[in-house]
Amino acid sequence: MDNTCFNYPTDTQVGPGVIGQLNGLLPTLGVHRPLVVTDAGLLATDAYKKLAAALLPGEPDRDWYLFSDVQPNPTEANTRGAAELALANDCDGVIGLGGGSALDAAKVCRILIKQPQLKLANYDWEADWSGLLPFIAVPTTAGTGSEVGRSGVVTPDGADSKGMYFHPELLARCVFLDPELTTGLPAGLTAATGLDALTHCIESFTSPIFQPMCDGIALEGIRLIIHALPTAIANGSDLDARGEMLVAAAMGGVAFQKDLGATHSLAHPLSAICGVHHGTANAICLPSVMRFNAQRQPGVYRRIGIACGLDVVSCSDADADDQTIHFIDDFIRRCGMPPSLEEVGVEEQHIEALADQAWLDPCHQTNPVPVTREDLKELFLKAL
Ligand SMILES: NC(=O)c1ccc[n+]([C@@H]2O[C@H](COP(=O)([O-])OP(=O)(O)OC[C@H]3O[C@@H](n4cnc5c(N)ncnc54)[C@H](O)[C@@H]3O)[C@@H](O)[C@H]2O)c1
Ligand SMILES: [Zn+2]
Repeated sequence: MDNTCFNYPTDTQVGPGVIGQLNGLLPTLGVHRPLVVTDAGLLATDAYKKLAAALLPGEPDRDWYLFSDVQPNPTEANTRGAAELALANDCDGVIGLGGGSALDAAKVCRILIKQPQLKLANYDWEADWSGLLPFIAVPTTAGTGSEVGRSGVVTPDGADSKGMYFHPELLARCVFLDPELTTGLPAGLTAATGLDALTHCIESFTSPIFQPMCDGIALEGIRLIIHALPTAIANGSDLDARGEMLVAAAMGGVAFQKDLGATHSLAHPLSAICGVHHGTANAICLPSVMRFNAQRQPGVYRRIGIACGLDVVSCSDADADDQTIHFIDDFIRRCGMPPSLEEVGVEEQHIEALADQAWLDPCHQTNPVPVTREDLKELFLKAL
């Protein structure tokens, strides 16, 4: 048996209206002057209004501050802007409201609040990061799982690829999974973010690292997503489906503390170089990566198929993989995802740069089978 280490979960409140508990929670964390970090798109949503309403009542001495300039695929400048606002106003806690972009910016800005002179390119995860401001995560998409993760994805100043900033101290102190905050998420983003969560569960389960607790969580996450995502897309105000998706996304986030696979190595440069949304990039690339893996490790997807509800217990390895990949491919299409990278603006002239970055990305190191730079290039061409 390989050695391993488990430490979770994060304190998580789940259900319609739980955001109302935020007001009572903050003083228990010593937070009286929180900074809310979000993106401009959120300001017009009910999710923002509900958060603002939850911050006000009964706390006459509470001031809160707003940083709403987070970009999709956040940058160091975004996190620095949030940190400067927090420092200028003596904030004592950070609330991230939004999808993975806002949550990651909120998470990582605490590093720059502690060390304002630091350039993220020089971040040292082995330094002492104790004493970061408390972080409360309020996801408004059901996808990235950033709310329960120990890392934030931010593009450092001057770089053309994303950086991953990891530390256990980055974890949220409390997470609110409130389905009333996701009912306004449009169908296209519901699909793309939900398929990011599905990719987390599939890639973490099939990664060869010994982490059986994560494996169990990944399989149940898959079952929930297959059940709830089509309803969440078709009827955005269905609170049961929205709630199941929030929980499944958080489960994907816990599961991939184990690790991810080659699909994510393809997706990261697709966002950095071509601006493709993270979940959309995963959804387009996942079936090609699954076919590649199944050819080299027959049977690798049998238990994924079972989690999807397929009767593949006693068929051959090849059949189990075929049926599972066909099901996932069809599920992604039924969610309304574009069938190819070409449809989201990727061109053949981008492929070499994409392959270079994908090769440098660490996620493929825990793919079920080894991949070379040429394999990654071929996978991009297949998905084109
Ligand atoms: N930290 C991690 O573990 C992790 C994991 C996966 C992805 N990521 C990162 O997360 C980012 C992607 O996050 P995402 O997919 O959640 O998208 P996002 O945060 O970029 O948001 C996409 C869009 O959805 C809008 N939006 C969000 N919630 C809404 C709501 N309830 N109603 C209406 N509009 C809403 C936002 O305004 C934004 O325009 C990428 O930067 C990716 O690298 C991080
Ligand atoms: Zn992802």
